[in-house]
Amino acid sequence: MKTYRVGYLVGSLSSTSINRILSKALIRVAPAGLEFIEIPIGDLPLYSPDYDADYPPEARTFKEMLASVDAVLFVTPEYNRGLPGSLKNAIDWGSRPWGQNSFARKPSAMIGASTGKIGTAVAQQNLKSVLSFCNAPQMSAPEAYIQFLPGLFSETGEVTDPTTAQFLTDYMEAFRGFICRVSAVLKANGELEEAA
Ligand code: FNR
Repeated sequence: MKTYRVGYLVGSLSSTSINRILSKALIRVAPAGLEFIEIPIGDLPLYSPDYDADYPPEARTFKEMLASVDAVLFVTPEYNRGLPGSLKNAIDWGSRPWGQNSFARKPSAMIGASTGKIGTAVAQQNLKSVLSFCNAPQMSAPEAYIQFLPGLFSETGEVTDPTTAQFLTDYMEAFRGFICRVSAVLKANGELEEAA
């Protein structure tokens, strides 16, 4: 079985981020055939086209990391019914310079946790719109909106509720299947740039 490298972006810069805990839970329940590397977004300056001719080191590293993975997983909170600015900034960096969009043809999925009941649904709609423009193939089902209830996860990402644990397990299995399918089609079309 081929092992796919998944880069994950945590859309929160909070030191106590519940989405970071969710990312740990997802890695715990992920199937064989997926390995994970975090692609940090917190050190990126605010994007400006002025940088396009000469990206700063943080942005070069960010783009190199995106190039090195087979797929991208977004684990994000919802801020004011939208995508956190830090995550949008990171996507803007990755999408440029013109003609060097790091998200094009990169299999992607999104998931998020919030303290509220709709579990980042609005932020994810917002993110879908952004990634569609970036030409990223996105897993459309299952959708995953997690309400972060006290005690549901340990600090290290153990899931205490069996139903939630099974849901996250199924979600990650579905993502592996999605990565396999998209990669196979891209390879057959000669469009797959093998991850570095
Ligand atoms: C929030 N929160 C929030 N929750 C939600 O369900 N919908 C929303 O629109 C917002 N908006 C929002 C804006 C800002 C600026 C903050 C700081 C928070 C609450 C949010 O779900 C909660 O703070 C989570 O803990 C954020 O995830 P992280 O940062 O802990 O991963």
